[in-house]
Amino acid sequence: MIRILFVCLGNICRSPMAEFVMRDMVKKAGLTDKIAVESAATSWEEEGNPVHRGTVKVLADMGISCKEKRARRMEKADYGKFDLLIGMERRNIANMQRISGGDPDGKMHCLLDFSDQPRDIADPWYTGNFDATKRDVIEGCEALLRHLMHN
Ligand code: 4NP
Repeated sequence: MIRILFVCLGNICRSPMAEFVMRDMVKKAGLTDKIAVESAATSWEEEGNPVHRGTVKVLADMGISCKEKRARRMEKADYGKFDLLIGMERRNIANMQRISGGDPDGKMHCLLDFSDQPRDIADPWYTGNFDATKRDVIEGCEALLRHLMHN
């Protein structure tokens, strides 16, 4: 089983979008017994809160429900529990390394590092543009799934 933790600042916009889009792709690929997906925050800002309505709408338009999801902060122990810890932007990686105390096993990556055009995923909490986030998240999750299937 490959265990993936998607991480962003608040765990209400980008990382839950990636979690539920990726789970949907994994399910459709028949790989639910091989790939497990969760998400977490680097801050305590939204701890316990449900997914942002912008992300809820993006997922609902794709026929995906996320109503059980509540934001949680990444813990130091998550580094040992997951095989891949995937941030949405460089700043997430810096904060994730602060929580874990480093990345000795090279488990941390940015989601779009797996695509042909590595870049940060902008925070829709600030931009308000959930459609741009959706395009980036789908591109990243497709690229990540291809990477996992080839390796
Ligand atoms: P996210 O967006 O990191 O994509 O979940 C944010 C959500 C909440 C906050 C910041 C970013 N906040 O500061 O509360």
